[in-house]
Amino acid sequence: MKLNPAHAIFDGNMFVQLRAILDPTPAHPSLPLLDMSIGEPQMPPCQLLLDSVARHNAGWQFYPKATGNARFIAAVQHYIDRRWPDASQLADDSQIIPVPGTREPLHLLGQLVAGTKTDAVALVTNPFYHAWRAGALASGADIQFLNSGANHNFLPDLAAIDDDVLARTTILYLCSPTNPHGSVMDLAYLKTVLRLARQHDFLVVMDECYSDIWRHTPPPGMIEAAAALAADASGQDPLRNLVVLNSLSKRSGAAGLRAGFMVGDQTVITQYLKIVANGGGLVPTPLLEVAADLYDDDDHVAAIRAYYNANFEVAATHLQITPPEGGFFLWLGSEVLIKGVIDLASSFGISERIVSLSVVAFGTSIPELTTSIVAIVRKEKGISIGNLIGSNIFDMLGVMGITALISPIIVMDQSLFGDDFIWMLSFSFLLLPLLFINKKMTLGKLEGLILLGLYVIFIGRLF
Ligand SMILES: Cc1ncc(COP(=O)(O)O)c(C=O)c1O
Repeated sequence: MKLNPAHAIFDGNMFVQLRAILDPTPAHPSLPLLDMSIGEPQMPPCQLLLDSVARHNAGWQFYPKATGNARFIAAVQHYIDRRWPDASQLADDSQIIPVPGTREPLHLLGQLVAGTKTDAVALVTNPFYHAWRAGALASGADIQFLNSGANHNFLPDLAAIDDDVLARTTILYLCSPTNPHGSVMDLAYLKTVLRLARQHDFLVVMDECYSDIWRHTPPPGMIEAAAALAADASGQDPLRNLVVLNSLSKRSGAAGLRAGFMVGDQTVITQYLKIVANGGGLVPTPLLEVAADLYDDDDHVAAIRAYYNANFEVAATHLQITPPEGGFFLWLGSEVLIKGVIDLASSFGISERIVSLSVVAFGTSIPELTTSIVAIVRKEKGISIGNLIGSNIFDMLGVMGITALISPIIVMDQSLFGDDFIWMLSFSFLLLPLLFINKKMTLGKLEGLILLGLYVIFIGRLF
């Protein structure tokens, strides 16, 4: 049967893809399985959740309402009062609605801004949660990913976005604490985002599903930024150009409950309600009561936080990492991996020379590997080869030169200048004849196998 080809872009989400890669690997028969194919809470459900589900076991015969019920809305208002007191009562009750988890609204919100600007752009934080991309696709705009690297505390660099792009932007997906790094946006950052959204008239979709999972200080929320800017234009909706999404999946360790809330711009909420009332998923009434119980309570959340914090302390002790400010992921840079391997290797009596020629060299070359694969996928083969040659030359001349300028490099292990040098020179010379083997200046499967085989021999002879 023919299906809409536009949806072919929805390959399985990252968890589905990762599971497909891991599935063929058989589990070790005597070790417990550490399932890394999905990120979800692993601790058993808290007693409050179990009791509440048992208590609210009526009302299944009724259709749920898209607007929820008065008790749920009151519980969310009280939660906002406690969590972000400066934003207390900022939202009218009609600006708060239940959502069946945050995934669905993250996706559906994109439809609301489709067709609102010409040459539209959807800005998506990168690395991204797949539902942000789904929403950006639904908006029909060109997606521009906001790469969030270590140089900017893993947050999008707002100052780096061109005014022209901002003018064409219809939707911006942000998250704090971020997934996966756990960085937190401060109030000044949040206010800047909201000012930009109002100046250029786009919708900020603020994913705050990790807002209650933090280490030392509760992260500020975007609703606080809206409260801080409320005086700027009295008489207008204080939440204009903004929706905030919150979920019990992480806060209460209740990913299976499928409950959370959305609060935001009156016009967006009204239109969104029409979409879901026509054909969306709604939170069943008994589960809405459970959700109200969970939003009314903070003690179980403190226990969940303590559980994650204890895990991070174990990681901090054994991996010498600094836990992230928020969230429950641990983002391990390659330097942690390399340090761990060096420690392990030296405890087995393996020399620094061997570790540096094998593991460290491999670990530090992962960025080149990634760049080359991306270039190949994008059919930019020149970049792939250029990147390799350029980074090798830079490593030898630039890195050596700069480090020698800072402090003299003393080579303790003379064998680096013997065999290792000869191997390096021989491999460099080999690349050229390989390219000419079939007179097509092509490195094909055969040449790839030869190169990989030689690498295996080189590593093999080290040990
Ligand atoms: C950043 C982020 N947003 C949204 C979600 C979806 O959560 P839910 O739909 O359970 O609220 C997740 C789940 O892992 C997430 O990591």
